Amino acid sequence: MKADYILFEPDVSTAADARLVVLTGDRPTGPLHLGHYIGSLRNRVDLQDTHDQYVLLADAQALTDNGDNPDKVVRNIFEVACDYLACGLDPEKTTICVQSCLPALPELTTLYMNLVTVARLERNPTIKEEIRSRGFERDIPAGFLCYPVAQAADITAFRATLVPVGDDQVPMIEQTNEIVRRVNRLVGIDLLPSCRAMLSKVGRLPGIDGAGKMSKSAGNALNLSATPVEISNAVKMMYTDKDHLRAADPGKIEGNVVFAYLDAFDPEPDAVRTLKEHYSAGGLGDSVVKKRLETVLQEFLAPIRTRRLQVSSDPGYVRDVLRQGTEAARAVTSSTLAQVKRAMGLPEI
Ligand code: TRP
Repeated sequence: MKADYILFEPDVSTAADARLVVLTGDRPTGPLHLGHYIGSLRNRVDLQDTHDQYVLLADAQALTDNGDNPDKVVRNIFEVACDYLACGLDPEKTTICVQSCLPALPELTTLYMNLVTVARLERNPTIKEEIRSRGFERDIPAGFLCYPVAQAADITAFRATLVPVGDDQVPMIEQTNEIVRRVNRLVGIDLLPSCRAMLSKVGRLPGIDGAGKMSKSAGNALNLSATPVEISNAVKMMYTDKDHLRAADPGKIEGNVVFAYLDAFDPEPDAVRTLKEHYSAGGLGDSVVKKRLETVLQEFLAPIRTRRLQVSSDPGYVRDVLRQGTEAARAVTSSTLAQVKRAMGLPEI
């Protein structure tokens, strides 16, 4: 059996893979940050030129753990859409759509739900971790426990074969492929394609506090919409090597948050290599390395911020993008639903 994931290589997105359908999504619960960019957004911007790509604003999934706060989710649909457009997702190339406006998805979910056991859902490692971190204990919303099934509906409804996501999503892909196999066995033909996660080669970006990965809930994120002052403060806060007390001393690169960011964002890897050599040999102060990172991040985020301001000042444009994308997505997803229902022999009345 093929692995459920591949690492992204820039040249994967050429000829042989060009027919692959790409789908990915985000829960609109807050603004996107640099971790999203490194983990997935950058891959999406690359893939849109060569692949048939859909991006889902997963508001229905966001409600599975924000059921008491739909306002927050709805507000963030617009914010995340602006982040997408600001980063270079081009609506001419990528279909951006809103999950809750695609009724075929919950219909497919209902059909798939009967092919998955509660025990299997409870074994999903990402679900387990999320139940723990959200403090649900025994009070798990039913919709939350079942969201991997809904995610399988998302992926299969678009007939997606490539799913650029963070590594926490690999269990969702595994579970999707189990459902795909069960459906195909049930209907006796290869109706649904299996899919693979596409993981970023760089891996996870640490939070600005260096404690674990960047995440909104941990409060260690730098948003794509950050102001110059926020960027500057974030770099000031970052840890380097805590034992590097004097510039003359040799410093450690491993676990050094500032170098992790330079690796991810500096457009000149050779210059970073020289800095690293100098830093590990001794004689290079933290302030010099931080200065470079500050320049790199300011230069990286400035055009994104400018584009975001442009886009967000024209809500009519953003709404049109979502309306057109969602309409196109409705056609694709309802066609898959019809095929599944027909293959299962359900009545067409
Ligand atoms: N679960 C994903 C996340 O939390 C969001 C998501 C919803 C998604 N539907 C999807 C990702 C379909 C990929 C494909 O980030």
